[in-house]
Amino acid sequence: MRYLSLVALIGLCFFTLPLQALSVYDLSCEHKVNPMGIEAAKPRLSWKLEDRANGIMQTAYAIRVATDMRFNRKSLVWNSGKTNSGQSVLVPYAGAALESGQRYYWQVKIWDNQGQESDWSEAAFWETGLLNTSDWQAEWIEPKQDTLQDGPAYLLRKDFSLNRNIASARAYVSARGLYELFLNGRKVGDEVFTPGWTVYHDRIQYQVFDVTDLVQRGENAVGIHLGDGWFRGALGWMDNWAIYGKAVGAICQIEVTYTNGQQATIVTDGSWKSSQEGPIVLNSIYNGETYDARKEMNGWNEAGFNMKDWDDVTVADHSKEVLIATETVSVRKIEEIQPVKVWKTPKGTLVADLGQNLVGWIKLKVEGPAGTTVTIRHAEVLDKYGEFYTENLRAAKAALTYTLKGDGLEVYEPSFTFMGFRYIAIDGFPGELSPENITAVVIHSDMEPTGTFECSNPLINQLQHNIVWGQKGNFLDVPTDCPQRDERLGWTGDAQAFCRTAAFNMDVSAFFTKWLKDLSADQLDNGGVPFVIPNALRQGGVSAGWGDVATIAPWTMYLVYGDKDLLATQYPSMKAYVDYIREKSGDSYLWTGGSVFGDWLYYKPKMTSHTEPDGYTNPDMIATMFYAYSSRLLSQAAEVLGKDADAKFYAELYQKIKSVFQDNYVTGSGRIASDSQTSYVLALMFDLLSDELRPKAAEHLVNNIRKRNNHLSTGFLGTPYLCHVLSDNGYTDVGYDLLLQEEYPSWLYPVKMGATTIWERWDGQKTDSTFQDKGMNSFNHYAYGAIGDWMYRVVAGIEIGAPGYKQIRIQPHPDERLEFARATFDSSYGEIASGWTLKDGQLQVNVTIPPNTAAIIELPKATITGVQANGQGVRENADLKNVEEMDDKLLLEVGSGQYSFSYSYE
Ligand code: BGC
Repeated sequence: MRYLSLVALIGLCFFTLPLQALSVYDLSCEHKVNPMGIEAAKPRLSWKLEDRANGIMQTAYAIRVATDMRFNRKSLVWNSGKTNSGQSVLVPYAGAALESGQRYYWQVKIWDNQGQESDWSEAAFWETGLLNTSDWQAEWIEPKQDTLQDGPAYLLRKDFSLNRNIASARAYVSARGLYELFLNGRKVGDEVFTPGWTVYHDRIQYQVFDVTDLVQRGENAVGIHLGDGWFRGALGWMDNWAIYGKAVGAICQIEVTYTNGQQATIVTDGSWKSSQEGPIVLNSIYNGETYDARKEMNGWNEAGFNMKDWDDVTVADHSKEVLIATETVSVRKIEEIQPVKVWKTPKGTLVADLGQNLVGWIKLKVEGPAGTTVTIRHAEVLDKYGEFYTENLRAAKAALTYTLKGDGLEVYEPSFTFMGFRYIAIDGFPGELSPENITAVVIHSDMEPTGTFECSNPLINQLQHNIVWGQKGNFLDVPTDCPQRDERLGWTGDAQAFCRTAAFNMDVSAFFTKWLKDLSADQLDNGGVPFVIPNALRQGGVSAGWGDVATIAPWTMYLVYGDKDLLATQYPSMKAYVDYIREKSGDSYLWTGGSVFGDWLYYKPKMTSHTEPDGYTNPDMIATMFYAYSSRLLSQAAEVLGKDADAKFYAELYQKIKSVFQDNYVTGSGRIASDSQTSYVLALMFDLLSDELRPKAAEHLVNNIRKRNNHLSTGFLGTPYLCHVLSDNGYTDVGYDLLLQEEYPSWLYPVKMGATTIWERWDGQKTDSTFQDKGMNSFNHYAYGAIGDWMYRVVAGIEIGAPGYKQIRIQPHPDERLEFARATFDSSYGEIASGWTLKDGQLQVNVTIPPNTAAIIELPKATITGVQANGQGVRENADLKNVEEMDDKLLLEVGSGQYSFSYSYE
């Protein structure tokens, strides 16, 4: 009885709460939630609005920032006061100068266009890093190291005592190599592969950890486990190692604040000791790890450990100016997967199938006599005989070798290597292997998932799954081409092709902010952009469509996240790249010799009996087309940044290249040299044709596709834009023909062959189950996954109206071959959704628009009188503004809210 009345009371309270309460959530600083180690002088703050009413716009905000969570007057460093502004994304801090190593709490409250005022949000924070090089009291130290290539990981340690009660403690740490930090026997933080991969000569990230709970009054010990990683290990396939230096080392500074306000600082210096006798006897990104558990030194990272036989460290004079706070989101262990099957192949190899091509490593649980060695090898595929296939890994050994210490259950996972695999082969396992002995640990940069796409065709859903897994596997601190063979490099062409799709699936703002700065750092003196970033191949060549990531990626990030500062930071790099081409092409405006890779991996009809020509596209023409496109993007960036003279200059440059391109490569009937799909795609996408020739070129493209029986023939450069060009020119149905094509070459062919990631080549595995050339055949390469962008933007219809989705365009493109399609995207303003269902000639379109944005909705084949909107006629519904019929579409403007439209779609 008592209970019942309580429930009634709660119910009453609930229902009397104002339904439209305005509130603020998802506070972030510099694209991150509660970041540790911010170096920006004016960190930018973002928040989202929550409100159930329609048409909500922020009209003002107030931000307060303090060094104390209570926001009392003494601790306040900024109080913006009520500021009339609709800006809720990337609002720059404008308070007192920030200090090193300080936590700043912040809160925001807002007012909206309906006269509502929110409460103060919950407090979020950012913490500054070490803002001045002189804040580093620690020295770079290096362990004694005898084997430089594929050698052991090192242990470094120091005991220290803290003689008062501790209020707080921070660790600032980095490495020339990869490190794991331990305090009193416990690993600090959940990041892996720290400090990440940057252009180490110029930039090395450090991490900041709150270690208050890991240190204690009395005796303490700090330990660093140090591996080779990208710093010293081999990178690329030419025995290219020690690119950044022959010796690995670490730097660490622990700052302790006692409750009485006094400070203690523990730093890496000559008093540390090191050992090369730890359990990891071999560590290498490509080759794997060899671990001898008998060599474990119990208590090495705890106080009072006996350092007999440990070596002195060397204090090295490396620059500390290169140290920068972490710009990206760190790599973490994201999920774990159990094998779906364990069995012996016909040849007797013991194999486990994880059911998913993934990136990370195996956590092994094993029990057996000391000295027993278990070896785990990794493969993406089985061959046609069902045997373990590793030839496509080229020289990468990708093996884990674990020797047991022999005391009960042993659990092992590696520290400084990763593999791309779906299958493992296990050798030497003592006793019966069961699936519980094996867990795959999936690792990648810890990007928030932001997008979903789903439709009525299970093959397309699997394609979306494969695109997402291609991204998980290849966004490992840098955007890599592949995760399994002796490559795993930041190939620029692949990144430009995929970055827009990537930005739908996950929040890649911080990830690209960092990587693009590496691009600037490794840009050649003449402005050229190397093939890979960081430039691990140490080459000075440039290729059209690869180097253009310098303009395409910053522009894409600006469109998706509205981040003008990123654009401003990259602007000199964008301009240097275009000027590099300008220099090469001179007065001809033709970039001859500019393409090394052409339309990489375009269709070549070797596989079947197709008699049609291949998809070859003239590389010089490709180069000139990208020259035009990059000039145009640069002029647009200049315009956004208020660089009017540049905007004008590069817009004119673009016009000149466009006209020279037409003179050289286009006939009066709209035929373009090479007559390939990619020639038409790039010319149309980059707007290089006259109004008159556009439709003709589009027709040639469609004829080409039809002649090939609805198959594509594009490579890395044409593929991302192929369907966009079709839908932009009135051939959405042909785009669907290609998307739904199940035979090679197509997106669904690998899906039909059982792929769980995107393949490098259209025919990585042929219909007879044989493989493409083992020299270059990755089963986890994201470039062709760029079709995801079309699925989100065109099939489901979530399109950017103004940078950062402040304005949204909803433009669903239904096709009767699907019953439904829907996508969501968690933008900087909140979730945008667009989806449609087509049944019995009736179309229903469901849309969600987040607060503080507005949208134009385009309903295809709709009329004012035919559409019901949220159960009302279009004219009666007060939420719909500027309703207009145009070109077989109905256009409506809406504010935030949820909308459902239905009408007969004939
Ligand atoms: C990489 C590609 C890259 C290409 C350029 C390959 O080895 O895996 O993804 O774009 O080389 O030639």
